[in-house]
Amino acid sequence: MSTKAPEEKHVSKRGCFKSTRSRILLAVVAFIVLCAAIIPAAVVTTLHKKDSMGPKSKVFVPLYVYPAPGAWTPLENVVSTHPDVNFTVVINPGSGPGPDSVPDANYTREIPNLASYANVRLLGYVHTSYAQRNISLVRKDIETYAAWPTASSNPDLAVRGIFFDETPQQYSAQSLAYLQNMTDLVKDLKGFGSDGFVMHNPGAIPDSRYLATADSTVVFEETYSTFQQRSSAKIFTAIPDSNRTQLCTVIHSVPDTVEGSKLRSLVKEARKVADEIFITHLSTDYYASFGTKWADFVDLVAA
Ligand SMILES: *[C@@H]1O[C@H](CO)[C@@H](O)[C@H](O)[C@H]1NC(C)=O
Ligand SMILES: *[C@@H]1O[C@H](CO)[C@@H](O)[C@H](O)[C@H]1NC(C)=O
Ligand SMILES: *[C@@H]1O[C@H](CO)[C@@H](O)[C@H](O)[C@H]1NC(C)=O
Ligand SMILES: *[C@@H]1O[C@H](CO)[C@@H](O)[C@H](O)[C@H]1NC(C)=O
Ligand SMILES: *[C@@H]1O[C@H](CO)[C@@H](O)[C@H](O)[C@H]1NC(C)=O
Repeated sequence: MSTKAPEEKHVSKRGCFKSTRSRILLAVVAFIVLCAAIIPAAVVTTLHKKDSMGPKSKVFVPLYVYPAPGAWTPLENVVSTHPDVNFTVVINPGSGPGPDSVPDANYTREIPNLASYANVRLLGYVHTSYAQRNISLVRKDIETYAAWPTASSNPDLAVRGIFFDETPQQYSAQSLAYLQNMTDLVKDLKGFGSDGFVMHNPGAIPDSRYLATADSTVVFEETYSTFQQRSSAKIFTAIPDSNRTQLCTVIHSVPDTVEGSKLRSLVKEARKVADEIFITHLSTDYYASFGTKWADFVDLVAA
């Protein structure tokens, strides 16, 4: 207030014209200046509002959370309140489907519940140890997930594809054949429904010859500071023969200070580069619980 008052006085003094003609001229000029200032601002504001967050992405959730009663509630809450957002959720009963034909009673209670949401696609976790794991064991894990609906006599105890963890980055014809073989199996098995969705997690950008064997690939699984350092957009767009529809990014260890508009910018950047995104402020056991800004993150994916 105290800094503005003298300025206004100054302006009104200068505007003290003598003739009517000058006054009209001043009014016209003022009107033009005002229009020039307001119209582009209004146009920019409208455009800005319309697509300020860029393309839509899905929320990717590595749900390595044991389903003790209530433990999956933070996920169910955002799933039910954001019907326009799709969620790809990886479940992992025991570094895979576990030793039994169906997982324990907490899983058999919670999985059908989560699977019942139209905006949720569940995937079963299987690790490949960089395509070195005994392929018969990988095949057995995949077949176990696919058999859940029949083994449990519950059609809703089902996943719609497989998340392959620890897939290789370096190319070898043998690894490619291994992964292609597993993809063919997932696509063939009836237990995954019509989806048969395949995700790979090399954790970084793999040789691009692997990309076509998966529906989506996690090309970044690192801390917030690494994401910042790598000038994310550039590393993602530099991947040959790919586009954002095939990519997933996982950003963890986001500092607590990255909230509000800073979190908004981060989500916007992630949405620009990847169709599936997961962002957490947790810096240890990133996937074992929900971070404090979990709901804010989902709101920004929905925005
Ligand atoms: C379900 O989870 C609860 C809480 O962790 C546990 O006490 C219970 O034993 C579990 N039930 C089964 C069948 O594993
Ligand atoms: C969400 O899934 C539905 C049904 O599969 C699809 O039509 C829609 O385009 C998806 N939306 C996004 C943002 O991925
Ligand atoms: C792979 O696992 C199968 C089943 O357990 C076993 O019969 C086979 O010997 C294993 N192969 C290798 C190379 O370890
Ligand atoms: C996949 O591997 C199995 C066992 O090694 C083999 O029998 C099968 O022919 C392979 N399938 C394809 C499509 O390569
Ligand atoms: C992007 O990738 C998807 C899935 O592989 C493909 O269907 C689409 O044609 C690609 N778009 C471009 C512009 O390359």
